[in-house]
Amino acid sequence: MNRAKIDKILARWNRDANYAIEILQDVQEEERYLPQDVLRYVADELCVPVGRLHHIATFFKAFSLVPRGRHVVEVCMGTACHVKGAPRVLDAFARELGVPVGGTTRDLQFTLEPVRCLGCCAIAPVVKVGKELHGELQASKVKTVIKKYAEG
Ligand code: FES
Repeated sequence: MNRAKIDKILARWNRDANYAIEILQDVQEEERYLPQDVLRYVADELCVPVGRLHHIATFFKAFSLVPRGRHVVEVCMGTACHVKGAPRVLDAFARELGVPVGGTTRDLQFTLEPVRCLGCCAIAPVVKVGKELHGELQASKVKTVIKKYAEG
């Protein structure tokens, strides 16, 4: 991430350490994760210890300290989805993407994550890719879903 972009984000929040979470959210939005060198730079600019930003980055699940894919595939592992075959769906994504659960593809296109109930159990098993929900998704359809985003 270039310094100009970070400076723009810092300026948006008046370089105010009280908005550290918002600043990190904006950085994460741009980069899809929080690079170490960026955390150090932001900490210096906000005049706070970098440990404070690390604490925020590790406390909130929305933040990541490692690169994430352009598409985050969230496979619901809640009870209803589990009963309807979510483990097989998760395995199929891991196999097709060639990454372990929690991993990111080398081309930084996909990150695979298990999540808790997505709140739409009636259409279990459910997978969320970015902001889109895929209900009643069987393992046999996983390839099609990946293809849709890989091309999009
Ligand atoms: S358990 Fe999967 S949406 Fe509720």
